[in-house]
Formats: sequence, C-alpha cells, structure tokens
Amino acid sequence: MLLLDIKNLTVEIDTSTGWVKALDKVSLHLKKGEISALVGESGSGKSLIVRTIVGAIPDRWRITADRMTWKGQDLLSMSAQQRRKIIRNEMSVVFQNANHSLDPTASLGQQLRESVPANQLEEVSFWQRKALRTDIIVKYLHKVGIKDHQQCMRAYPHQVPDDICQKVMLAMALVSKPELLIADDPTMGMEITSKVQILRLLTKLNQTQNLSILFIGHDLSAIANMATHMTVLYSGQTVESGKIGWLHKRPLHPYTKALLDSAPSFRKDLAPKSTLSSLDGTIPTLQHLPIGCRLGPRCPRAQKECVKTPKMRHISSHFYSCHFPLNRGGK
Ligand SMILES: Nc1ncnc2c1ncn2[C@@H]1O[C@H](COP(=O)(O)OP(=O)(O)OP(=O)(O)O)[C@@H](O)[C@H]1O
Ligand code: SF4
Ligand SMILES: [Mg+2]
Repeated sequence: MLLLDIKNLTVEIDTSTGWVKALDKVSLHLKKGEISALVGESGSGKSLIVRTIVGAIPDRWRITADRMTWKGQDLLSMSAQQRRKIIRNEMSVVFQNANHSLDPTASLGQQLRESVPANQLEEVSFWQRKALRTDIIVKYLHKVGIKDHQQCMRAYPHQVPDDICQKVMLAMALVSKPELLIADDPTMGMEITSKVQILRLLTKLNQTQNLSILFIGHDLSAIANMATHMTVLYSGQTVESGKIGWLHKRPLHPYTKALLDSAPSFRKDLAPKSTLSSLDGTIPTLQHLPIGCRLGPRCPRAQKECVKTPKMRHISSHFYSCHFPLNRGGK
C-alpha cells in the first residue's frame, strides 16, 4: 500500500526578483514498511518537501501537484485541522535543526510528557497517568541513547547540546508510534557512536514494527545500509529515483553518478589516496536558475537539447530525467 504519493509537486516562492519554482515537478512515493531516502546537495529542496508535506509553509506560496496523498487522501485539499490530525496520529516529523523546533520556555521533560498521546494512557486511572507518562518517555529516551534521563528532563533546550535536542525530538516523534517517520537529517552533527545507534534504532523499528521512514541525509553509506529506495533531488527537481541497488550499480543521471562518486564511504572500489571526482560549480540560487535542465551549466554531458527541460522517463521502476542518460547502450 502506498502511504505517501507525490506526483509533480511544484512550490513557487515569491522572492525579491519575482516568483521562482523552488520545487519543480518533484515526485516521491513511499510504501508501507519501506525506508526511502531523499538525497541531494544543500539547497536542493529536501527540507522544503518535508515542510510542504506537513503544511508548514507560508500561505502565500503557490503549491500545485498532480497528486499529493496520504493513504489515498488528498493532502492539498484537506483542511488544516484534518492534516494536523494525520500528523498527530499517523505521521511524525523530526525537522532539521531540531533545537529550533523545541519550545525554549518549557523543560525537555514537559515537552516530552506532552508528546505522549492520550490513547496510551487510557488503561490506567487518572492518578497513575503522570507516572505512566514518565515511564514511557524514559523508555524512549533510553532508546535514543540518553542514559541520564533525569538531567535531560530537567533541562531547557538551550542548556543541552544540539545532538541531545535531536535525540529528544526523535524520542518525541517515536513516542506516538507513527506509521511514517519523516526524519530530516536526524543525525546531523552527531558523533559516530550516536549516529550508528540512531540508525540502528530506526532500522530495528522498521524491521520489528513495520515503521515506514522517509530518511533525509547526506551520508550515502548509511543510507545504502538502511534504505531500499532513493530519490535524488537537484535544485528543486527530481533527477532520478528507484531501488538503491540499481542507482548504485547503474546510475542513469549524471548528477546521481557525480553524487555517488563524491562520497568516499560509498566507493568500495576506491584505491587509497585517490582523488574524488566532483562536478565543477555550485548549485544555482533560486534567482539564477538555468533554463531547461537545471544541471546544464555543470553537466559534463550537456548538449543543445538540454535547454529543454527533460521529461521524467523510466526503465521498469527506475525513473530518471535526462536527455542523454548514462549506462544506456553501452555508454
Ligand atoms: N522561507 C524561505 N524563503 C525563501 N527561500 C527559501 C525558504 N526556505 C527555503 N528556501 C529556498 O528553497 C531552496 C531549498 O531549500 P531547502 O532548505 O529545502 O534545502 P535542503 O535540500 O534541505 O538543504 P540542506 O541539505 O542544506 O538542508 C533553497 O534555495 C532555499 O534558499
Ligand atoms: S539533460 Fe542534459 S544537462 Fe541535464 S543531466 Fe542530462 S545531459 Fe546533463
Ligand atoms: Mg534541509
């Protein structure tokens, strides 16, 4: 069953130079029980997709999509109240920069207690609920790797390091036992042990509780170990998507290849001290988007035809948008 199904999502933002398409016909879908990854360099629009899914973007921005559904229900036409209900009960989000999402005026303990849904407290009497709430959040704090739960619960967000805020946000997101977890760079800035612990926890929850995960991150090696599908974004456009094994072995889009080649941890074939290849230039700003394929100015395979936006094509369920794809016909 498809949980999330997004087809041709476009988000237009009003900037000082006029309206620009920050997301341009982005497609993404996620099946129940699947871990799907969303990757792309900084500024490619990953967090914007998350904020659009949960409706956390300014009303004045223009959003269009052929389809944007949660379990078949149209997210774009439903009321803000209906969408909030879905987000509260079925979908949890760990936003990037978790410390910005926490309330600076409440202790972490207060915020964690509030995140325990009422239906998990129904079986005990009113007088036992406070203790049960505490038991539940302590369990989740330990799961995300916070051992000193008492000190953590007493603290305010500004009193703890960013990685503790991220872990607390993750605990808050998991406590409601969502069907889908959207995790936007949840291990950013964490040291390696914490990172591994969080990734193991997410994989375990996926395997034991069928938790579906949309994982956004930059660590391709970690992504390859946990996700089954990957969607690659570049400058607000989906450039390629499909099973991670296919994308790894046989990328069709030059940007996917460049992204994989630039990740040392992903290159098992790399000899020691080899130079990593990368694309020249940087991702364009929204005010200076090239016409046609947005990778054009940086693409080693660009030709005249690339001034026309390539259509999304596919080989089986491997999607790509490029006029001159790699790995086809022996090239
Ligand atoms: N509130 C905003 N106003 C104007 N432009 C915005 C706003 N939020 C995001 N953008 C623009 O949208 C584009 C996508 O940003 P986004 O934060 O989604 O990137 P990202 O892929 O999440 O990057 P990172 O990997 O650094 O988190 C960027 O060009 C950014 O400048
Ligand atoms: S469409 Fe052209 S510019 Fe774009 S990725 Fe393909 S070859 Fe490169
Ligand atoms: Mg982001």
